[in-house]
Amino acid sequence: MLQRPRRNRKNEAIRRMVQETHVSADNLIFPLFIIDGNNQKSEVASMPGIYRHTIDNLLREVESCLKLGLKSFDLFPNIDESLKDKHATESYRDGNLYVRAISEVKKNFPEACVITDVAMDPYSSDGHDGIVENGEILNDETLEVLGRMALVHAQAGADIVAPSDMMDGRVGYIRNVLDDNGFTNVSIMSYTAKYASAFYGPFRDALNSAPKFGDKKTYQMNPANQREALIEADLDEAEGADFLMVKPALPYLDVIKLLKDNTELPIAAYNVSGEYAMIKAAIQKGWLNEQRAITEVLTSIRRAGATAILTYHAKEVLENKWL
Ligand code: PBG
Repeated sequence: MLQRPRRNRKNEAIRRMVQETHVSADNLIFPLFIIDGNNQKSEVASMPGIYRHTIDNLLREVESCLKLGLKSFDLFPNIDESLKDKHATESYRDGNLYVRAISEVKKNFPEACVITDVAMDPYSSDGHDGIVENGEILNDETLEVLGRMALVHAQAGADIVAPSDMMDGRVGYIRNVLDDNGFTNVSIMSYTAKYASAFYGPFRDALNSAPKFGDKKTYQMNPANQREALIEADLDEAEGADFLMVKPALPYLDVIKLLKDNTELPIAAYNVSGEYAMIKAAIQKGWLNEQRAITEVLTSIRRAGATAILTYHAKEVLENKWL
């Protein structure tokens, strides 16, 4: 045999020398849940180790992450039911919980990269990402709400706004609103290929944001489709996106690879709540080795072509020095 691939695997030094893919703190984005109140944190039942933080607690959490070299955060608000309405008006009210959280983090930690979620669902009395009329999700009317929301996030100091709603034309619409108001430096991370997935369940528990009727299939993509992601990617790129995201990550590695091969923009992948819950449940049962399972998942997402990974594992992998 002239070729014996095992020679390049024979010891740790050689294995590391030929390793093709690495994950570092620089690639990770930590999603954080926010609730109103003081000095509280409540664990999300279906996401062991993940908490909803009040703003004072959030600042302590961000500080401890920064010390570990984790510098990017995606914030998500849990909104009191009494503040929700059909048009998500609370979402663009100056001084709302979310806006306060963004500005407190940026004021205390200017070096932190703050990413914000632009979508109506946590604020919508219908639990949808758009305005609902006669059971239908209105596209163009929703853009106006998204534009206002993105603007208050930018005013509060967001570095990157991330529209997760899947309305058509929202990237271009938001880009215009930001530019017209002098926020030409605020980036857009578009949820380009966001699938109508079963794996968002625990996230909706965390925010109490599940749809009150129906599902999200008229705006989120069909899990059976791959080529359709290219249509979304072309549009987002033309409309001015700075990052293209694929979500969820693990069941859609082929889509990450497809977009990677078809764009020069950096790809982000969202290792979502249900992916986290599955791994944690198996670990709790003693069925998987924690360190090995989690690092394998993150490495695979990078190998498929993701530059950045949004993951609930971000802090624990650094705390435990697993990378
Ligand atoms: C809201 C939003 C969702 C997630 C991120 N932003 C849920 C949804 O679309 O229903 C899911 C994240 C996760 O599951 O970790 N538009």
